[in-house]
This record gives sequence, structure tokens and C-alpha cells, in this order.
Amino acid sequence: HLQEDELTPDQYGDFISSLPTTGFLSQYRGFWFPTKFMQGVLSLRKHFQAHDTDILMMTPPKVGTTWLKAILFAILNRKHHLDLQKHPLLTNNPHILVPYLDLHLYNKKEVPDLTTYPSPRLFSAHLPYTLLPTSVKNSKCKIVYLYRNPKDTFVSLWHFLEKIGMTTDSFEETFDKFCQGVSNFGPYWDHVLSYWNESLEKSQRILCLRYEELKEQPTTHLKRIAEFLGCPFSSEEETKGMINDISRLCSFDYLSKLEVNKSGTTHNMKNESLFRRGEVGDWVNYLTPQMSEKLDNIFKEKFHGTGLKF
Ligand code: A3P
Repeated sequence: HLQEDELTPDQYGDFISSLPTTGFLSQYRGFWFPTKFMQGVLSLRKHFQAHDTDILMMTPPKVGTTWLKAILFAILNRKHHLDLQKHPLLTNNPHILVPYLDLHLYNKKEVPDLTTYPSPRLFSAHLPYTLLPTSVKNSKCKIVYLYRNPKDTFVSLWHFLEKIGMTTDSFEETFDKFCQGVSNFGPYWDHVLSYWNESLEKSQRILCLRYEELKEQPTTHLKRIAEFLGCPFSSEEETKGMINDISRLCSFDYLSKLEVNKSGTTHNMKNESLFRRGEVGDWVNYLTPQMSEKLDNIFKEKFHGTGLKF
């Protein structure tokens, strides 16, 4: 039997093959991971060393990761990119500017050397809180977490999986699996709860944001994010309209119309597949009333007494 902690990179393949699977997903420590990213999950857990100054952006898939990457990058680097006409977001997809630890940097045989990244390092990952390496849990690094109402998250996930060919299931089958917790980096509710519960005790370290709130009041939340990250907007920056500028630069309309996001690719994936509608409530066009009620019931129970909205 392969002991996880003692695995060498050569043995990851055997370990991953020993996990329960369904379709494109493998079950590991209570969560379902795309099998093709399992190596990254294992390697990140084993090797990533957090720095106290790190900023980690954590999300389940399809809750607005691309958007938040753009926002955090723009906020943190705003002093270097005052001229928005030359901003890196105009020519780079946000996933290039803020790399995934699990999906990209660690998802290969060699352990990456991340010590050369300038501080503060900004990385993202889809791992649930409970599975983060101890070095992250023990460090003072800041974590920004984003989640979204489960109905839009599911509908977004379905379209995405279809588009990139990562499912052979029908819409209904994918829905049933989602309700059973079998979805990319799911169960979705356990993912959200893992960060939410931790943030209640560690509000200085973990900031939980909701897609719908970010969408409704981007300026308020951009300010909150900058304060949380220890780089609040100065009154001069506010007067100059910098918060609105960043908000507009990162908006769905703006990013999705850029050439790089219309025709470019990132890690073999078409950037355009990351931009669909970018709206709240699009689920009404896809879920039957029965499906909607089923999700309501699940999340009512799972989030009961937690303060989480769904
Ligand atoms: P929809 O499929 O509902 O349109 P992720 O980045 O985590 O993969 O999430 C993708 C979802 O975020 C998609 O939702 C996508 O359209 C939406 N999205 C992408 N960029 C956005 C932006 N700048 N603002 C708001 N939503 C955005």
C-alpha cells in the first residue's frame, strides 16, 4: 500500500490510479478532483512552502476565479501600472498573471522553484481549506476566497465542461452528480464551508467574498479587498477614480472583448471558454423548478446555522 507522505514523484501515477474514480474525477480525502490535476494536488500539498507575505486566492471552479485574479493583480500592482492603456491585463489572460499552484505550477514532475517570485507572491488554487499544506495553515499569509450561488455555479460548470470536453454526462446526469457532491473540487458545499468556517475564527487572514456581492457593489468590495491585503486605496487614489478604473478594467464586458481573451489560449485552453455570460441568475434559463428546489433543499440543510447565503 502506497503511503502518501512518502511518495516520490515517480510513484504519484500509481497512487492516483489507486483512487476511486468516476468519469474524469478521482476521489481523494473526501473531495473529487479532476484526475489530470491530481499530481498537482499531491505535489502542492507536499512541497509548497508558504511565506508570511504570500497572498493566496482560493476558489472552487466557476465562481469567478478569472475575474478575481484580474482584480487582485490590478490592486496589488497598481503603482507599477498607472497607465491603464499599457496594463498587463490588456495583453495577458488573468490566469497567466496569477498562476494556479495545483492546476499548473505543481502539476508536473519537477517541483517548481517559487522562491524567486517577488514578494508579495500572488498564487491561486482550487484546493479546499482542509487540504491546504500545513505551511499555509501555519503561516500568516492572507487568503482571499470567492464563492457563488450554487445554481449559477453549477450552470457555469456544466457549460464549461461541455465546451472543453471534460464530461461525457448529460446535463441531468451532471446535475445529479453535483447534488451528490461529485463535481470538480466538490462537494461544492464542503468546499465553501471549509473556508467559511475557518474565516470566522481568522478574519484577519481569510476574506470570504461572494460573486453576487462583488457584482452588485464592486467599488465597495475592491476597497475592502485592498484594506484586507494591507494596501488600502489612499484618498488621492480614490479622488483620481482609481477604484472605478480598476473595476472597469476587470469587468466582464471589458476583459471578454480583449483580443487576448477572444482568440488567445492559456495552457492549451481557449481563453474565450472562461467568459460566458458573467451574470447573476442565469440559472433560471437552465434549471427546472424541480432542480432549483432540490438545490435549495440541499443548501438549506448544508448551510443551516452558518450564516452563509446561497
Ligand atoms: P458564467 O458561466 O455564469 O458566465 P471561473 O473564472 O471561476 O472559471 O468562473 C467563470 C465564470 O465567471 C463564468 O460565469 C464567466 O462568464 C464569469 N466571469 C468571467 N470573467 C468575469 C468578469 N470579469 N466579471 C464577472 N464574471 C466573470
